[in-house]
Amino acid sequence: MSNSAFIKSSIAKKYWMALTGLFLCLFLVGHLLGNLQLIFSSGEEGRRVFNEYAYFMTHNPAVKILSYLTYFSILFHAADGIALLIQNKKARPVNYAYSTPSANSSWTSRYMALLGTLVLVFIATHMSNFWWKMKYTEEIPLHSYYSSMAQDTVYLTQKGQSISVAQVNLVGSTEGTQLIMKAEKVNALIESNFSNQINANTLEPSQIAELELAKKKQLLKKDEVLGEGYKDLHTVVLQYFSKANKSESGIPVGLLGTLFYVFSMSVLAFHLWHGFASAFQSLGLNHPQFTPIIKLFGQGFSVVVPLMFAIIPLFLYLIS
Ligand code: HEM
Repeated sequence: MSNSAFIKSSIAKKYWMALTGLFLCLFLVGHLLGNLQLIFSSGEEGRRVFNEYAYFMTHNPAVKILSYLTYFSILFHAADGIALLIQNKKARPVNYAYSTPSANSSWTSRYMALLGTLVLVFIATHMSNFWWKMKYTEEIPLHSYYSSMAQDTVYLTQKGQSISVAQVNLVGSTEGTQLIMKAEKVNALIESNFSNQINANTLEPSQIAELELAKKKQLLKKDEVLGEGYKDLHTVVLQYFSKANKSESGIPVGLLGTLFYVFSMSVLAFHLWHGFASAFQSLGLNHPQFTPIIKLFGQGFSVVVPLMFAIIPLFLYLIS
C-alpha cells in the first residue's frame, strides 16, 4: 500500500471507530438510566416498573432498530480497532530503538486495544448472563404475584387481566411472554368431566345427548391466547448479584459476579477516558475554544457513567 493510501485507510478506520464509539456512549447513557431503576425503585412496584421497561425495550420496533445498531456498532468498533492495530504493526514491524511511548502518549492511549478487548469480554459475559437468557431461552420465569383482589397468584399482564398461574399450569402453557390455553389440555379435561358425569349417574339417553351437546360447545377448536405477560428479568438480575447466589460446590457466584462487574467498569472508565476526546479529534472536530471543554466533559463522562454502573451490582449485592 502506498503511503497516502495507508494514511487514508487509517483515517477512514479511525473515523468509523469514532462514530461507532460515540454512538455506544449514547447507548451507555440510555442503558444506565434504565438500569438505575434497579436501585431507585424497590419492592413489588420496582419489580413491575423494571419488567415493564424490559418488555418495552425488547418489543418496541424503534428500540429494536437502536438495539441492532448497538450490536453492529460493538462488532464494528472492535473489528475496526483490531484492523487498525494490525495495520499499524505491519507498517512498523520493528519497534523504534529509542521509543519512549510515555513521552508522547498517555498510558490509556497505549493500552486502548487491551482495554477494549477487556470491555468486549465483559459485554460478551454480560449479554450471556441476561440478554441471551431473556431473548433465546425459557429460563426467565414470567412475572407473577399474589393478588388479594383475585385471591390467587396471577400473572402480571399487559391489560391488567387476572390470569391465574394455577389455571395456566393446569390447562395452558407459556410461550415466550404469551399465556396460552392449550386446546388439547382443556379438551382432555372436558372429556374426563363428561365421562365422570356419565359414569357416576344413571342417565337417560336424552340426558346423555344433552350433556354431549354441552360438551361439544365447550371444546376448544384451537389454542387460545389468554394474554401477554412479562418476563421477570428483575428477579433474575437481583438473584444474580445476591450473596445467596452460590454454585453447588459453594463458589460465591454473586460475589465474584459483582467484583467482575466493578472491575470491568474501571476498565471501561480508562477506555472512555482516552476514547471520548480522541473520537472528536478523529472526526476532525478541533477547536481552540471547544476542544478543552470536550476533553473535560469526556473525562467527567468516563468517571461518572462507569461509577454509576458499578454502584448497581454493588448495591444489589450489599442489600441482598
Ligand atoms: C453494571 C450494570 C449493568 C446492568 C445491571 C445491566 C443489565 C442489563 C440487562 C438486564 C440486560 C438485558 C436487557 C434485555 O434484554 O432487555 C442488558 C443488556 C445489555 N447490556 Fe447491560 N447492564 C449493565 C452494564 C452494561 C454495560 C457497562 C454495558 C456496555 C459496556 C452493557 C451492555 C449491554 C448490551 C449491549 C446489552 C444488549 C442491549 C440490547 O439488546 O439492546 N451493559 N444489560
